[in-house]
Amino acid sequence: MTTVAIVGTGVIGASWAELFLGHGLDVVATDPAPGAEERLRSALEDAPTDRLRFVADPGEAAAAADFVQENGPEREDVKHALFAVLDEAARPDVVLASSSSGLLPSVIAQGCPKHPERVVVGHPFNPPHLIPLVEVVPGRRTAPEVVDRAVAFYTSVGKRPIRLAQEVPGHVANRLQAALWQEAYSLVERGVATVADIDTAIAYGPGLRWAVLGPFVNQHLSGGAGGLAHVLAHLGPPTEEWWRDLGRVHLTPELAETLVAGVDAELAGTDDRALVTARDAVLNALLAAKAAQPDLP
Ligand SMILES: NC(=O)c1ccc[n+]([C@@H]2O[C@H](COP(=O)([O-])OP(=O)(O)OC[C@H]3O[C@@H](n4cnc5c(N)ncnc54)[C@H](O)[C@@H]3O)[C@@H](O)[C@H]2O)c1
Repeated sequence: MTTVAIVGTGVIGASWAELFLGHGLDVVATDPAPGAEERLRSALEDAPTDRLRFVADPGEAAAAADFVQENGPEREDVKHALFAVLDEAARPDVVLASSSSGLLPSVIAQGCPKHPERVVVGHPFNPPHLIPLVEVVPGRRTAPEVVDRAVAFYTSVGKRPIRLAQEVPGHVANRLQAALWQEAYSLVERGVATVADIDTAIAYGPGLRWAVLGPFVNQHLSGGAGGLAHVLAHLGPPTEEWWRDLGRVHLTPELAETLVAGVDAELAGTDDRALVTARDAVLNALLAAKAAQPDLP
């Protein structure tokens, strides 16, 4: 694997490019927006750009690639049109991976009349050059061997891929986030806590443990010697009570306004760029600390 096509060079495409260039791969990038090449080059502050080529035509990018990572807008019609071009141009053995946050790979592959078996979702987390997770999702017609190759490729560039057995809207991690957001928004709507206090509850509470271990192993550890079996027996029944009280919100304009005002109040006086820099510095330190602990799963 030497050349990756990055199709769509917005937030996610630029970050993938940074990762691939940092691993010494050749990158052929494409994006139809005026000024896209300049924006990409200025976003790639920390990556070597001598292996970066920008082309106007997505077909040309796909024809030159050993692996295609698509990052266009999250719209079915756009993905269909784009995958038709990529499928036509790429060698038949080349994996076509979409970064889509929630579309089903079977739906994306409807744009590929020739080789739908090489279409997968390879969903990263923002920013993909830092966050290790990639969800590899097969569609109904995806060949198992294509999933194997996508997993091997992402592993080779330092990612931590997981393989879904079947496609569902939003994949796994975004569904988990969506469940949390629903209850967080509901708690704000019910006036139980402010936006800032809910952010504190996660960022200085369970979020610290979630960054180290997943929800199941964390729960197992909170059961002491009895482990998860004890926790489920002991705290399972009250948890079922809480489930019955969880909110189901609708994103009305009023609720959206309340949430945005809450974040504005929380971040009053904070510079967004400084916040991103601080987040990335802590993420890097955390990833290094995790890598130094062989006992972590
Ligand atoms: N932003 C996130 O947190 C995030 C995380 C994971 C996955 N994703 C997914 O990544 C994809 C890109 O999201 P983003 O946040 O980078 O969006 P973005 O708006 O920042 O970038 C999209 C880019 O696609 C370009 N584009 C438009 N039409 C195109 C075409 N026909 N061919 C190629 N490029 C085209 C646009 O010019 C733009 O630069 C989406 O599918 C999204 O669901 C986003």
